[in-house]
Amino acid sequence: MRGLDLEGKPQHRVRVRFFQPADTEEVYEIERESFPNPWSPYIFLQMHYSNPENFLVVEEDGRIIGYAVFTIKNNPFPLGHLLNLAVKESYKRQGVGSLLLKTVLRMLEEKRTKEVYLEVNKSNIAARRFYASFGFKEDRKIKNYYGTGEDAIIMRLKLGRQK
Ligand SMILES: CC(C)(COP(=O)(O)OP(=O)(O)OC[C@H]1O[C@@H](n2cnc3c(N)ncnc32)[C@H](O)[C@@H]1OP(=O)(O)O)[C@@H](O)C(=O)NCCC(=O)NCCS
Repeated sequence: MRGLDLEGKPQHRVRVRFFQPADTEEVYEIERESFPNPWSPYIFLQMHYSNPENFLVVEEDGRIIGYAVFTIKNNPFPLGHLLNLAVKESYKRQGVGSLLLKTVLRMLEEKRTKEVYLEVNKSNIAARRFYASFGFKEDRKIKNYYGTGEDAIIMRLKLGRQK
């Protein structure tokens, strides 16, 4: 992600693409370092097979450095739900999460989704600030959402006018 070489060309090749089953191990590695209750590799594969276009990864020079999973529910209008988003520890604060979230928001807008929401652990200040920087607003609290005693906060964003 970082910098240009002496000829002004990017030093690293970064791209967003759809998840493939061969990515499972690398994605799971990031998941385990990111969350106290990580999704299993099986859940990632299930997400991919049930909706391959709603599971994105960011890769740099062929290595996975972040991922995002979302769904769109129709009840009665299309409503986006961001299920998972994480960035490899050594790549945090370099815009990888923003690249993923911008891509997800653009895809949701292309599908005429008017709103997106997510659940975030109350103590996860980094993620709350990250989503707030995109205009997400904190809504209600869900007590003991993860079954660990910790509360979650629902954050929402109206689509059609984010940065
Ligand atoms: C939250 C997360 C995805 C952010 O990814 P990232 O690639 O580091 O984010 P970016 O570099 O794109 O940051 C964009 C902005 O978000 C905010 N932000 C991100 N991390 C932050 C932190 N640790 N503290 C405060 N603000 C933060 C800042 O405003 C930042 O802009 P700046 O760097 O110019 O100040 C990443 O920290 C992560 O993977 N956390 C673990 C998994 C997780 O909690 N996922 C969300 C579950 S709901």
